Amino acid sequence: MGKCCCGSDCQDSRFTEILEQYKGKDGVLIPVLQKAQEIKGYLPEETIRAIADYFNKPYSEVYGVATFYAQFRLKPSGENIIRVCAGTACHVRGGKKILDKVCSELNVAPGETSADGKFSLEPVACLGACGLAPVMMINDTTYGRLTPEKVTEILAKY
Ligand code: FES
Repeated sequence: MGKCCCGSDCQDSRFTEILEQYKGKDGVLIPVLQKAQEIKGYLPEETIRAIADYFNKPYSEVYGVATFYAQFRLKPSGENIIRVCAGTACHVRGGKKILDKVCSELNVAPGETSADGKFSLEPVACLGACGLAPVMMINDTTYGRLTPEKVTEILAKY
């Protein structure tokens, strides 16, 4: 088991273990990126570079995979993750206004983190609570039948 130079089971030693676990196997990029993100919370450039070097892949290939899939984050996420539903049921019930309100309240675009690091806004297709449309989630809490006014009240609680 890889212990870090600090002697403990830190992020770097867990990352090294992941690399060793997938050594010599095919089709490893996505699972390795997923596990690296689980450990680090996001995929810093040096992590993408380390994966490319370890598996003898061009950096551009690994970076391409990391940017293609929405599940991968290339920047650290905020303290709270907001997901505003952009699915059809929410869209027809004013989901766009909810998204616009979150963006203007926090001064962020979808995919970005607020300047104070408190919120990240992630785009999502359907949150599976269509009966409550329009819907957003903050971390594990679902908020339904939203109005732009309610968004302001909810954000103030965090
Ligand atoms: S469409 Fe919004 S929760 Fe399903």
